[in-house]
Amino acid sequence: MCGIVGYIGHRNAYDVIIKGLKRLEYRGYDSAGITLLNGSMNIYKKAGKVSDLENFAEGKDINGSVGMGHTRWATHGEPNDRNAHPHKSNNGKLSIIHNGIIENYATIKTELIKRGHVFHSDTDTEVLIHLIEEIQHKANVSLEEAVRLSLHEVVGAYAIVIISEDQQDELIVARKGSPMVIGIGEGEHFIASDATPIIEYTKNVVYLNDSEMAIVKKDSLVIKNIENVVQNPVIHELEMQLEMIEKNGYDHFMMKEIYEQPKSIYDSMRGRIRATEGLISLGGLKEYETKFKNAERIIIVACGTSWHAGLVAEYIIEEFARVPVEVEYASEFRYRNPIITENDIIIAISQSGETADTLAAIELAKSKGATIFGICNVVGSSIPRASHAGAYTHAGPEIGVASTKAFTAQVTILTLLAWSLAQIKGTLSRTRVVELLTALEAIPAKVEKALTSNEQIQKIAANFKDAPNFLYLGRGFNFPVALEGALKLKEISYIHAEGYPAAEMKHGPIALIDENMPVVVIATKGSILEKTISNIQEVKARKGIIIAIVTEGDTEVKKMADYVIEIPDTEEALVPLLATIPLQLLSYHIAIMRGCNVDQPRNLAKSVTVE
Ligand code: M6R
Repeated sequence: MCGIVGYIGHRNAYDVIIKGLKRLEYRGYDSAGITLLNGSMNIYKKAGKVSDLENFAEGKDINGSVGMGHTRWATHGEPNDRNAHPHKSNNGKLSIIHNGIIENYATIKTELIKRGHVFHSDTDTEVLIHLIEEIQHKANVSLEEAVRLSLHEVVGAYAIVIISEDQQDELIVARKGSPMVIGIGEGEHFIASDATPIIEYTKNVVYLNDSEMAIVKKDSLVIKNIENVVQNPVIHELEMQLEMIEKNGYDHFMMKEIYEQPKSIYDSMRGRIRATEGLISLGGLKEYETKFKNAERIIIVACGTSWHAGLVAEYIIEEFARVPVEVEYASEFRYRNPIITENDIIIAISQSGETADTLAAIELAKSKGATIFGICNVVGSSIPRASHAGAYTHAGPEIGVASTKAFTAQVTILTLLAWSLAQIKGTLSRTRVVELLTALEAIPAKVEKALTSNEQIQKIAANFKDAPNFLYLGRGFNFPVALEGALKLKEISYIHAEGYPAAEMKHGPIALIDENMPVVVIATKGSILEKTISNIQEVKARKGIIIAIVTEGDTEVKKMADYVIEIPDTEEALVPLLATIPLQLLSYHIAIMRGCNVDQPRNLAKSVTVE
C-alpha cells in the first residue's frame, strides 16, 4: 500500500511524478504529496486524491528535474494534510516518502524527542527522517551512510526515497518488505512501487531486493546491501505495454478488466496446453514433479479474492488428483504455529505478489522445509521471488482495486495444476484430460457470451441498488463463487453481503430472509443442482427474492427464481470461471448506481503490504 514515484534526469520531475502517482493511486488514495528540488526544496502535500494535490500545487513553483511523490494508504495517523508524505527532518533539509510500517517508531521517537526533535505528524515515517538527520550530524557521515546506519536501527517494512536539499543530484532509495523498481533511461532514472509509472519511458528495470539501497543519480545507479557491499544489479526487460494500463474507452478499470477476461483466461493457458494430445505443461511444476507426486497434502495460503481462488482449487485438486488440500488465510496461518513438514507443498496465491501476510506465511513454511509454489500475476514481485517454483497468471496489469480478471486467471492456472497433478498421480485418464482441456479451451468464448448479459444485469441491479443486505449461496465448486460474489459487492458498493454454502443457510442465515432480502444463488447444472433447488425453495417459502445464475436452457430454477441470469454450459469444475462473470457485473452496476468509486473503494488499497 502507498505508491511511490521518484525521478532524476532531464524532464520536468513534477509531470513524471504526478502521472506516475495517478497510475499508482490504486495502492492508496488517502493523501498525496511531492518534493521537488529546484535550488531549494519545495514540498506540497494534501489530503485526498492526486487531483487534489494538483489543484493545490497550481500556481506554485513546480519546476525542477529531481523529485519524488507519494500516494498514501493511512496506517499511522489519520488521513489529513499533516500526515501526508513527504515528511521533513527537523532542520528542513531532508525529505522522505515511505511505504510500509516502522514498527519500533514509538521507542525511537521518544529518544529523539529527548534530543530536542520536534515532530509535526502522527506517522511512523517522520521518525525515520529525524533519525537519519540525527545520525548524519552526530556521526558526521554522508547522507548515504546515515540512511544505511538508520536502517540498522529500524524494525519493520519499508520502501523509502530520501531527498536532501544539500545534495541536489541524487536520490537515496531503500527497501525491505515493500516493493521498489528502478527504471533505467538515457541520462535519467525512475523509481516506483511498481513498473506502471515507468513503462512509458523505459523498458529496462531493476527490482531492488530486500535490505538493499540504491544511490540514484542522473547518469549512475549504485546498489548496495545495507552491510555496504556493492551489488550487481540484474536488468530486466518489462513485457508490459502502455495500453495495458490505460482505460481504453471504458469508464472504469474494473469494467475494462471484467471485459478482458476472455483474453486473460486465454493468456493464462496459452502455450501451456495441447488439448487434443491431453498435454499440460506448467514449467514451474516440472522440476518439483516428484515432490508434488509424493506430497501427502497441499496447503494453500492466500488472502481475499486469491483465497477464494484457493478454495476453488481445493475442490478441483481433491476431485481430480485425490490429494488432501487445506486452504488457509495467510494472516492466520503465519501466527498459529501450523504443523508443516518437509513433505508439504505450499501453494501461495497472490495477484500483486506483494501481500505481506502471504509473504510471511511463505517464509514460515520455507523455514520448516516445505516447498513453495507461487501463483502470481505481477512478474518479478516478491512472492514469485520467494517461491521455489511457480506459475505466472499472465492476466496483465490489474488496476481496479476489486480483483476480477486476476481471480479467473488464478482459477485457470489452479485447474491446470490440479489436472496436471492428477496425470502425475495417475488419477485421470488421458481421454478424460482431453475432454477437460477441450472444455477449458472453449471457456474464453463462453466468458464472451456470459458478458452479453451485461444490459440485463444492469436492469436487475437497478432494483437492488438500495438494498441494505445481500446473501450469496452456492454449493460445491460454486460455494467459493458465492463468497467471491459477496466480497465483490461489499467492497465496491458498501452493501453488507454474506456468502454461504447454500445448505448451511438453514443453520442461521435463514433467519435473515424476508421479502426484502435479495438472495443470489448459483444454481447451475451439476451433481447437486437438485439440492440447491431445495435451498431455493427454502428461501422462497420465506418470501426472499431469488436472483439465480443458471445454465443456459434451464427450466427448473426459472420456475421459482425472481430473476434469472444464464451462463453457457460447461464441465462442472469449470463453472466458477463463468458463474463469476455475472456476479462481477452485478456488483459493478449496483456500485455505480450508488455513486461509488468502483476503482478506488474507500479504505482499500490494491496491494496490502502491511499486516
Ligand atoms: O494481491 P493479492 O491477491 O495477494 O491480494 C489479496 C487481497 O488483498 C485481494 O484479493 C483483495 O481481497 C481484493 N480487494 C479483492 O477484490
